[in-house]
Amino acid sequence: MKYIVLAVAAFTLFSCGKEEKKESLYPAEQETVQTPVALGKEIFEGKGVCYSCHKPEVKTVGPAIKDIAKIYKEKGGSIAEFLKEKSEPIVDPSQYATMKTNFAITRNLPEEELKALEAYMLSFSK
Ligand code: HEC
Repeated sequence: MKYIVLAVAAFTLFSCGKEEKKESLYPAEQETVQTPVALGKEIFEGKGVCYSCHKPEVKTVGPAIKDIAKIYKEKGGSIAEFLKEKSEPIVDPSQYATMKTNFAITRNLPEEELKALEAYMLSFSK
């Protein structure tokens, strides 16, 4: 009888320990879940270097993100296709030569990251 009680106690302790471990792993798992918009922002401001020419609200070297988003939504264009050089510029074709230099970066990005850039840019137009 004593042994059974001990065994039950040991089992309870053991399974409690297991539970705790599971919980402490949870936040780490959460970090890897990222929305397309958040991933797009990270690329836009990070390795894509897009932010140096595109600001959210004002035109600088390139058109404002919100103006690009508005035009793409109105015309039903695909930013991902544009970044793969598969569609023509529809925002400011006269400045296309400046934007073209960036295809050296975007043509090496996986489809998922191009879609994320598109989702991020479109999020500026309500
Ligand atoms: C050296 C400055 C510069 C950088 C860096 C830059 N752009 Fe541009 N971008 C421009 C200019 C100038 C235009 C306007 C010409 C045009 O419309 O193609 C433009 C236009 C665009 C357009 C509209 C294209 C259209 O249909 O006319 C998109 C979408 C865009 N950029 C996305 C990006 C993304 C994404 C990045 C980062 C990978 C980026 N740009 C980096 C200068 C830049």
